[in-house]
Amino acid sequence: MSIILAIDTSCDDTSASVVKDGTLALSNIVSSQNQIHEKYGGIVPELASRRHMEIIWQVTSEALSQAEYKLQDLSAIAVCKGPGLIGSLIVGCQFAKALAYSIHLPLLAVNHLEGHIFSAFLLNNRPEFPFLALIVSGGHTSLYRIDGFLKYKEIGRTRDDAAGEAYDKVAKMLGLGFPGGPIIDALAKSGNSSAINFPRGLWNDTLDFSFSGLKTAVKNYISKECQITNVEDICASFQKAVIDVLIEKTKQALKEQGLKRLVISGGVAANSALCKDFTALSKDIGIELFIPPIELCTDNAAMIGAAGHLYFKQGMFSSFDINPEAYLPIG
Ligand code: KG4
Ligand code: ZN
Repeated sequence: MSIILAIDTSCDDTSASVVKDGTLALSNIVSSQNQIHEKYGGIVPELASRRHMEIIWQVTSEALSQAEYKLQDLSAIAVCKGPGLIGSLIVGCQFAKALAYSIHLPLLAVNHLEGHIFSAFLLNNRPEFPFLALIVSGGHTSLYRIDGFLKYKEIGRTRDDAAGEAYDKVAKMLGLGFPGGPIIDALAKSGNSSAINFPRGLWNDTLDFSFSGLKTAVKNYISKECQITNVEDICASFQKAVIDVLIEKTKQALKEQGLKRLVISGGVAANSALCKDFTALSKDIGIELFIPPIELCTDNAAMIGAAGHLYFKQGMFSSFDINPEAYLPIG
């Protein structure tokens, strides 16, 4: 059995969670910085690091008290060591190291992407190996074949923007606010997704993605119009272009790899149209689909605890000289 205190400060959310046996989140506190970054239309790294510094102890105390655990009852401390914003990662890693050292607990260093992948292990119905993982977030859009713990193979990735990044940039162009994903998701509901035929990047012959052409197409469309009267249609048509590509590549990957289970995680997996279309796909081609609830899809520490448990089980503890890395691929 393990009771792991997990910390994630990879980007702009400060999060702490207590996770039992890698499968049950007893608490999952996320302090969002959206209000701080909103006026800039994107994340300002230094402000993000400073806010993590201010709030990390409060978030951790809340996670412990909500889970009704005390520091001395924990099995280990797991922390995200990358990829992410380096200043933000340093705050979380330094905090976790100091805490683990002071109370003689083992430290578990977890990759943020492993966290997104193993967030599916916090579901009541957990996926068995092997499975395909589609990570769609603000920083990543990648496909992995997952054969077991530490048996990851990247089979596709974005060559430019991540899907969430495209959502955020399009929302900024339309003056909608930050983060763009949930706003576009909501507006798209009353738009016509066939109104504008935006391009589907890298459609053939590769499992890689490209969203920068789509972003530019939206920009060109907006600059040609004197007055934007169809924001909902732009949102719906843009969103359809993103989801069409995600569906097509995932379908190809499942076929090529002969896989029958699909995990989708990362902030964009919270998208309502994406969930609907992938649910339809799963029924259509007869695969099992695992999409964690919204609070486990967007950045959170419970997913770090779920992945951390796998390291704990293998006794793969981290030394106290870990140094976070902004670029840290898996597979
Ligand atoms: O996983 P996440 O919380 O952080 C990263 O690791 O990047 O993902 C954040 C991204 C943002 O780009 C945000 O706009 C997007 O996820 N997002 C969504 C939705 N909710 C969050 N994108 C589309 N639809 C949503 N409902
Ligand atoms: Zn993430």
